[in-house]
Amino acid sequence: MCQRGSDFLGSKHAILGGAMSWVSDRYLVSAISNAGGFGVIACGAMEPSMLDDEIIATQKLTDKPFGVNLITMHPKLDELIQVCLRNQVKHIVLAGGVPSSAAIKQIKDGGAQVVAFAPAAVLAKRLIKMGADALIIEGAEAGGHIGPVSLTVLAQEILPFIRDVPVFVAGGIGRGDAILSYLEMGASGAQLGTIFAASKESRAHDNFKKAFIHAAARDAIASVQIDDSFPVIPVRALANKATKAFMKHQAEVIQKYQRQEMTKEDAQLDIEHFWAGALRRAVKDGDVENGSVMAGQSVGMVKEILPVAEIIQTLVKQAVDALVARRKRVDH
Ligand SMILES: Cc1cc2nc3c(=O)[nH]c(=O)nc-3n(C[C@H](O)[C@H](O)[C@H](O)COP(=O)(O)O)c2cc1C
Repeated sequence: MCQRGSDFLGSKHAILGGAMSWVSDRYLVSAISNAGGFGVIACGAMEPSMLDDEIIATQKLTDKPFGVNLITMHPKLDELIQVCLRNQVKHIVLAGGVPSSAAIKQIKDGGAQVVAFAPAAVLAKRLIKMGADALIIEGAEAGGHIGPVSLTVLAQEILPFIRDVPVFVAGGIGRGDAILSYLEMGASGAQLGTIFAASKESRAHDNFKKAFIHAAARDAIASVQIDDSFPVIPVRALANKATKAFMKHQAEVIQKYQRQEMTKEDAQLDIEHFWAGALRRAVKDGDVENGSVMAGQSVGMVKEILPVAEIIQTLVKQAVDALVARRKRVDH
């Protein structure tokens, strides 16, 4: 069932370690690929020279394939693509909005494959027409920046109708039996983030990992926008001081705008800048109260810090056991 996915990725298992800014570095990415999964470097806001270093360092730690995730609005996207191509990276994941045809063409002309996020069925078809070689559908259960629709619904809207390219599911996945059910619906594999962020090989701060272990699914909440005129891209993270302060900050800035002490543009920028550096603060400095502890609802299934290889083996075993149990039920 996952042959198409693993053939596409060139990995033993069709399990991607979703790119996580500040978390998905050479160590985590190589550990995932060495364990038979498919690691993806998170480029985030890195400069091209930093990405170059990270790719080369990852290649020293694994001879297995891995990908690079680039954010489409990065001002140096073209250069970043060239860095990937020069280093023979064969899979580039384009995140953060619909990619341009030019970016897709640049990647394909350079001999790599394009993986894109499809937030709806119409966009999935458009992305395939534009040349995407594979799609990820990520539900609102996921950690980090999220769309509004759950994976349960996206899977029903997209999986039965998209057969041209492999489709990987993401968001809220913590067990192999859940992966199996999506494979049965037509997915080619799954992308998981949260579960790997708390792994032994992840270089996230101990406080960050401990916060994951103590959290329940309901603690991973989507940020709330308090005024339609000041849009906020929702981010799913563990509730903490910062998530509460964000609500207060929005209210204060909007009041300043209403009292004409601020222009609308400045108010919008002020709201957006609230989270600047917040993920780094939590992941690297371990400030899990004032930083952004991005996590999916799957965080409730993270109970201990385990090696990546054990996480992947457990996922595969759960999927196989579920399949065997189902066959037994059918045979009876
Ligand atoms: C801490 C964190 C940071 C993330 N950063 C990114 C990112 O930079 N780019 C991206 O495309 N997705 C990012 N994601 C989403 C993951 O790649 C993945 O799709 C998601 O975690 C899957 O849902 P799950 O966390 O429930 O497993 C991030 C997720 C987390 C938890």
